[in-house]
Amino acid sequence: MNGKVAYAAVFALVALLAVVPSSVAQAQPAAGPPPVASPPAAISPVAPLWMDTSLTADIRANLVETEMTRDEALTLVRGYFGVDYPMFGKIYPTEIRKELPGSAGYVPGIPRLGIPALTESDASLGVANGRHMRPGDQAVALPSSLLTAATWNGALAYASGAMIGTEARRKGFDVLLAGGVDLAREPRGGRTFEYAGEDPLLAGTMVGEAIRGIQDQRIISTIKHFALNDQETGRSLMDATVSDAAMRESDLLAFEIAVEHGDPGAVMCSYNRLNTVYACENDYLLNKVLKSDWSYKGFVLSDWGAVHSTVDAANNGLDQESSYTHDRADYFGQALAQAIDAGTVPESRLYDMVHRILRTMFAKGLFDHPVVKQPINATADLAVAQHDAEEGIVLLKNAHDLLPLSFVKRPSHRITIIGGYADLGVLSGSGSSQVIPIGNTPSLEVMAGGAVRNEQTPTGTIILDPPSPYAAIRAQAPWARVVFYDGSDVAKAASLARVSDIVIIFAQQWTAEGWDVPDLSLPGNQDELIAAVADANPRTIVVVESGTAVTMPWLDKVGAVLEAWYPGNRGADAIARILFGAVNPSGRLPITFPQSESQLPRPQIVGHELAYAHIALEGTHSPFDTDYIEGANLGYKWFKTKNQIPLFPFGFGLSYTTFDYAALKAGGGAALTVTFDMRNTGKLKGMGAAQVYATPPGGVARLIGWSKLDLKPGEARRVSFTADPRLLATFDSTADLWRVADGNYTVSLGSSSADISASATVHMDASTIKP
Ligand code: BGC
Repeated sequence: MNGKVAYAAVFALVALLAVVPSSVAQAQPAAGPPPVASPPAAISPVAPLWMDTSLTADIRANLVETEMTRDEALTLVRGYFGVDYPMFGKIYPTEIRKELPGSAGYVPGIPRLGIPALTESDASLGVANGRHMRPGDQAVALPSSLLTAATWNGALAYASGAMIGTEARRKGFDVLLAGGVDLAREPRGGRTFEYAGEDPLLAGTMVGEAIRGIQDQRIISTIKHFALNDQETGRSLMDATVSDAAMRESDLLAFEIAVEHGDPGAVMCSYNRLNTVYACENDYLLNKVLKSDWSYKGFVLSDWGAVHSTVDAANNGLDQESSYTHDRADYFGQALAQAIDAGTVPESRLYDMVHRILRTMFAKGLFDHPVVKQPINATADLAVAQHDAEEGIVLLKNAHDLLPLSFVKRPSHRITIIGGYADLGVLSGSGSSQVIPIGNTPSLEVMAGGAVRNEQTPTGTIILDPPSPYAAIRAQAPWARVVFYDGSDVAKAASLARVSDIVIIFAQQWTAEGWDVPDLSLPGNQDELIAAVADANPRTIVVVESGTAVTMPWLDKVGAVLEAWYPGNRGADAIARILFGAVNPSGRLPITFPQSESQLPRPQIVGHELAYAHIALEGTHSPFDTDYIEGANLGYKWFKTKNQIPLFPFGFGLSYTTFDYAALKAGGGAALTVTFDMRNTGKLKGMGAAQVYATPPGGVARLIGWSKLDLKPGEARRVSFTADPRLLATFDSTADLWRVADGNYTVSLGSSSADISASATVHMDASTIKP
């Protein structure tokens, strides 16, 4: 593949930052404050006290801090871009350049005190390696986080996290910039594929489990992007406008749940403003919600280029400037030392920052289990990626049981595969999370007019993950005649379809960090192609590889639809095994598929006219507010509030077997308890995903729990759980607590947010919960 092109493309995305004024765009040495007068005492060659593992992380951190100079303290709160690239004219000292890990970030350690460096890699979908492109440096590309969310299987999210944590250690990284959990308020958002959908319970649980999996490998994971970085258009300045109560019940609840599950060592504050104040200097968000209400003990690091001040950022909760290279100025370098000297930032705040960083490094194992480079175990890691893909691909339509393709048995059977580069690999999303996968990565330039809408999307390099669906399908049906056509001529595709027993069309929607898709339709002429092919042969199966929801004007014409998201390094195998029945599909949508954009709270992305008119979105003022009028009722809750029927509802997904969800019993009073039976009523083994929603008095139904079970034909199992009371409550911003209202609540059991098979009414007593 063309390494240089990919490097430049990924790098360009990371560099979508403020244009640095010429006054600061000069070479700046990485200067810190002047050294203290007397040199620090030498540490004895015997293990220092803080290496005593029987002490708590806080005590161990305190012990190091007593030995530390202010100069040293300052080095821990300011990081470097991890590649040697003289961004904005900032030149690194030689000793730093030698140590850069060739990835997202680097914070030097303090060898005198045995403090290891923080070596940081992006890791939304595998250990990202798009930046340095060292020959042979490949990593297993996991499916997109949205696909992992679609498994509704916390154990798989954990396994995926453990897999990237293990690979990261072996590649020499001790911090993973993982844990994206911004809710899909804006399904056109370019990074929807890096997040876990639209529901706070599902997203928080799945992302929290992935973080737990990473950190069990004794490294640090972040959670990001805190908070409401829900669109890429104007992301560095836009002002997300939403009430305190609404975000506590939605976006912040997703973070809160994920923090409880995963206890991430660090929180990455986001680019955007939130209610007029930048997230990385937002006292409400960082000091009040995170550190006070949630008692968070880890540290807050900034997104790359998201710092805009020294005094406000330091006092309002930022603990580490991640990559001063990306910021307009060197906010936590000399400027922080000077602010401390001037008394505008208390010195105690610097030691709080340092304490949070060091205690996290102790707590997560960085001192006791330093990372050691060694080859990755690709075979084991690919198996995790495949399992994830097999459970997260969603069967959306299966007319007349067209799938599985078990009837394709004779050598005369002809399968025509059309489009989507299915002869090369499966699509991946782009940006800082890009993984250069295992195998022979197909070289792809940007596809103007093909898979990419050329006027509205920036150029870049699209990475396809091998193997190809064509090869994987041939492996499932070696006896059949399988042919591939790229789909460039619609008439030719239709005539091939006419003489085929089965047609499988691969449709693609490429999305990336840094820009949003203008709408949810398949780019280029794909809708026309699918309609023409399905008219020619109703036994047409559409496999969609997308970063988010897509619209499907051809849905009535086609026989079957599989939503494969970005399915990763074994995605093609997973797709083929589902098509031929080796795997029974069990994914469920973590995001609503609208019929059209007119059903969304905003018919167009806010700021799109500025972005597409190439008006600079950087400056001192926010060019626009994104007013989240839907409040806490995003996604399926918005559709319920507006009485709208989506194309496919949140939670939807078919199986090759059938399930019955019944015998619902719900108990109220002080706590809401739920019991029900799930039975496989079909002829095949398969996984059902029963979902339970509760509707508070005067409110909208909210997911309060689910159960995904693997059942044999005829097998039934009972499921019981107690609902988290926050999922029933509203947030009272004046009293600063959750309130469960006294009254009757409807509890609904079903196979999706819109297919309810049983309901019960319970009376709940009024109660309050401290955040
Ligand atoms: C992204 C982060 C990422 C960071 C470092 C930023 O552009 O928003 O998600 O972790 O770059 O690569």
